[in-house]
Amino acid sequence: MTLLQAKIDDQLDTSDVRIEIGDSREILQDFPENYFQSCITSPPYWGLRDYGVDGQIGAESTVDKYIEDLVNIFREVRRTLKEDGTLWLNIGDSYTSGGRTWRDADKKNSARGMSYRAPTPQGLKSKDLIGVPWKIAFALQADGWYLRSDIVWYKPNCQPESVKDRPTRSHEYVFLFSKNEKYFYNHEAIKEPTADGKKLRNKRTVWSINTEPFKEAHFAVFPPALVEQCMLASSSRGDLILDPFFGSGTVAQVAIEQNRKCIGVELNKDYAVIAKNRISHLNRKLL
Ligand SMILES: C[S@@+](CC[C@H](N)C(=O)[O-])C[C@H]1O[C@@H](n2cnc3c(N)ncnc32)[C@H](O)[C@@H]1O
Repeated sequence: MTLLQAKIDDQLDTSDVRIEIGDSREILQDFPENYFQSCITSPPYWGLRDYGVDGQIGAESTVDKYIEDLVNIFREVRRTLKEDGTLWLNIGDSYTSGGRTWRDADKKNSARGMSYRAPTPQGLKSKDLIGVPWKIAFALQADGWYLRSDIVWYKPNCQPESVKDRPTRSHEYVFLFSKNEKYFYNHEAIKEPTADGKKLRNKRTVWSINTEPFKEAHFAVFPPALVEQCMLASSSRGDLILDPFFGSGTVAQVAIEQNRKCIGVELNKDYAVIAKNRISHLNRKLL
């Protein structure tokens, strides 16, 4: 085994960014309390993608089990957050599978191919929108988080859908949770222009941001502009940010650009390597 391979097996490090390879359920337990200023993350959506690794979140057979897994993970996240820390959780919804047991990969996105499809949750019908984001939000609230905001991420360039009996979905949610009633929130840092463009006003809850494909990743990646807003509002220069579902490492990229540090956890080693390559190509500014 080469030295590089040994390092990859263990963890990937680019100084102000560290990538831990493994299951968030286990790795988060190793982080100390009061460690991260903020957590910005996007877990796999339920039943939507196959990330091809045992232990992947999102492949649970029931939506209740999926939510239970996420609540457990975010309980650990809460423990590791500073007392004035926040969690920014991006999550999208899913429809019931309508009895189908698999889905073909589409030409543009092989990760949409699914060797499994979750059964229709009890009490729902085929074609029902499940309401996963709000189920998660309420479950986290019940577990002790303060649910502070539901931000609608409007995607002007959303994927077209071949549906004729409902509008095309063009939004996802970003929920802002805090660990405590009082928390760090820099409203000045993310002010937006008024309608006439003459002044700045407090940020509104609908954020219009285009999706941005990242060519090496065959899964949904965060647009950096979305992460930037969450990071500027929730942390200061030099702070440490967590992403327990790291994927291609967008949170780390923004952390570097904004002079923050970042630790990411990623289950799929191939994705961790993609993230490492992405980050090491950045011209880092000094903290
Ligand atoms: C929606 S993607 C995150 C994309 C990321 N925000 C980006 O911009 O690239 C979710 C990621 O969670 C990872 N994942 C799934 N289950 C996991 C687990 N149990 N522990 C850590 N990572 C996991 C998947 O491999 C996938 O890369």
